[in-house]
Amino acid sequence: MMKPMNVPFFRPDVGEPEVEEVVAALRSGWLTTGPRVRRFEQEFAGAVGAAHAVAVNSCTAALHLALEALVLKPGQGVLVPTMTFAATAAVVRYLGGVPILVDCDPQTANLDLRDAQRKIGQLRLGQLPGAIPKDTPVIGIIPVHVGGCMMNVADVQDFADRHRLWVVEDAAHAFPAAWRPGPGSPWQRCGEGSAAVSCFSFYANKTITTGEGGMAVTGDAKLAERIRSMSLHGLSHDAWGRYAAGGSWDYRIIAPGYKYNLTDVAAAIGIHQLARAGEMREQREASALAYQEALAAVPEVERPVVAKDRILSWHLYPIRLRTDRLAIDRNTFITELKQAGVGCSVHWRPLHLHPYYQETYGWRPEDFPVATAIWERAVSLPLFPKMRTEEVQYVIQTVKAICARHANPISKSA
Ligand SMILES: Cc1ncc(COP(=O)(O)O)c(C=O)c1O
Repeated sequence: MMKPMNVPFFRPDVGEPEVEEVVAALRSGWLTTGPRVRRFEQEFAGAVGAAHAVAVNSCTAALHLALEALVLKPGQGVLVPTMTFAATAAVVRYLGGVPILVDCDPQTANLDLRDAQRKIGQLRLGQLPGAIPKDTPVIGIIPVHVGGCMMNVADVQDFADRHRLWVVEDAAHAFPAAWRPGPGSPWQRCGEGSAAVSCFSFYANKTITTGEGGMAVTGDAKLAERIRSMSLHGLSHDAWGRYAAGGSWDYRIIAPGYKYNLTDVAAAIGIHQLARAGEMREQREASALAYQEALAAVPEVERPVVAKDRILSWHLYPIRLRTDRLAIDRNTFITELKQAGVGCSVHWRPLHLHPYYQETYGWRPEDFPVATAIWERAVSLPLFPKMRTEEVQYVIQTVKAICARHANPISKSA
């Protein structure tokens, strides 16, 4: 047995170059949106293969601005997975839209397009919960690449085309990530696909971080321009454009915008995180593959499925407990992990099981049988760059020990 240790759920990897760049930004005399943000935007656009990138202060802001630029109107419906974080559906509500929740795929936990089709059918027949009128126009879909395992983006686009929907990707977990339709086809990076806008997160525990931050990328110059302007009060140009040499003091308010711009201090971190994004992904992948190998021998645990035609960002390492083989439930399992010093999380309690969505729309657990069943078995184990071998081994050993201690006697003999 290894000596007890503490393994956090996540430990950010912030190096000397980030520290030096932040100090340089502080000393430069320019703290808010300026040259470092511009550089970060250009380099990020290059990294995902997109024409335009607008840096903002969160992925939530990027999603909000994307929907605003696509002119989501009050009462219009948007398909949103129930298996996601609060932000994906909240931004639809910000604009008065109606999030139409969709169940998830049992393997990846990503949005299930067959259920999306079913929900549209039920809507038209007036069979969705009472608060959603049957004539609600459905105008968009927000797929989430859960944990950084991308959906089949071509299928999403096909579905969207058939139903005349725009696609905004919630790519909070999916940098760097890629997919391809099959062996031999070229890889397509998350952000260079057909989505109208792809939104990334640089929150503290994301695959690259700026503390808080986000990026909206798009191939459409007009959308990019609207997003940029609305990220800063709807002004015709930002402070850097006003005060830098050659800039003009004058500006026009073209719409009542928001205050979502990223600062140069934050971008200073992002520039160097971005430069190491591939290396940090490989480090997370190495730890994830060590988990995969060791946990193959633990029948009480289901491991994430890794398809050959995906490059995962490995934002998360989500396991599912075989609760039929265990004498304890997921919550007790988590308590025992914590008692042993291992941090963990759950992705996620699905939206339809939160009071707001239950009370506002009347969603019931049985409207989403897959998400309702899998969330009760879900545990995300620690995964971060520069995770030490002994930390990975300690997590594995702890998971195995809990499973051995609580293995169901019936399944033990089976
Ligand atoms: C799927 C998903 N979407 C959006 C967000 C929001 O990201 P941010 O905190 O950058 O606003 C998160 C954050 O965890 C997330 O997991």
